[in-house]
Amino acid sequence: MSEEAAIRAEMEQTQQQALTALQTVQNEAELLAWRNAHLGRTAPVMLFFSRLPQFPKELRPQIGQAANQVKLTLEAAYEARRQELQASSLQQRLSSERVDVTLPGRRLPLGHLHPSTQILAEICAIFGEMGFQVYRSPEVESDENNFELLNIPAHHPARDMWDTFHTTRPGVVLRTHTSPGQIRAMRQMAPNPLRVILPGMTYRYEQTNASHESQFNQVELLAIGQNITFGDLQGTLTDFARRMFGAEVHVRLRPSYFPFTEPSAEIDIECFLCGGKGCTVCKGGGWLEIGGCGMVHPVVLRNGGYDPARFTGFAAGLGPERIAMLKYRISDIRYFFGGDLRFLEQF
Ligand code: DAH
Repeated sequence: MSEEAAIRAEMEQTQQQALTALQTVQNEAELLAWRNAHLGRTAPVMLFFSRLPQFPKELRPQIGQAANQVKLTLEAAYEARRQELQASSLQQRLSSERVDVTLPGRRLPLGHLHPSTQILAEICAIFGEMGFQVYRSPEVESDENNFELLNIPAHHPARDMWDTFHTTRPGVVLRTHTSPGQIRAMRQMAPNPLRVILPGMTYRYEQTNASHESQFNQVELLAIGQNITFGDLQGTLTDFARRMFGAEVHVRLRPSYFPFTEPSAEIDIECFLCGGKGCTVCKGGGWLEIGGCGMVHPVVLRNGGYDPARFTGFAAGLGPERIAMLKYRISDIRYFFGGDLRFLEQF
């Protein structure tokens, strides 16, 4: 056999061995190993190139070309096998995994407004239509605004009506009601007539139970002008109750006492569940209390900058959570700020 024939036979064998080995390759790792063994720097096919100088000059081009041909063949076979493996692993995944395109999509949880925020917005909207403007007033208040200027002097027994959270700073409290906002609104507006509502959070140092919570919202109502009467108060509250609870609802103002109003009254609405006959919601009485009200006390008017000889006014304080509890028949006020999503998600 000539020298050329011998080297060609050797090349043929190298190629055949590599191709046979490639057929047994089953995964990516094996494929990589094959590539190192048969196309790497020290692979047999590569050695043909380094052996070229051993051959006579006139044979070198043919041998070089033949070696190159082997290398190209192996490279092409490698690429084909790589694609084959890739396709079969995809095939495997497709047949082992399933996508049920008829399944409904997954819903993203959507948040919404807190029930107290919703009822506050509703109350503000109703009074807004009656011409009341929202007035914002701080939750951290001076003892002076929260009590003194509302005609509740220190040591007066009426202070017992509001159990107070005091701050570390003397004379600064968490407001126990929204009424101190009356003083702020009056001092800003006097001597002009005013018609405002003051919604917001209030705080009481209370033993909590189903009807008492240490924080809750209030909506304060205040109208001051030259001919404002108790009848205006009654009409305003009746209109509000009808819009909130239904056109049939009756309002009753029951005589009461607050230091900052004279006369004072509790606001009752006729039980809209039993129509006043008496049921479990109204505890048999036929009426439900939703707040307090009265004509602004002359001392308070003066503290706010109005001359009580010329001005009169009415005020009221409503409990939005109480209103929501009645409207949606919620049995325990502690649900509102308990943070339980099972409750909150119902609104
Ligand atoms: N501030 C009172 C309270 O929290 C409620 C109240 C009663 C407000 C009578 C008023 C009012 O404006 O006139 O108990």
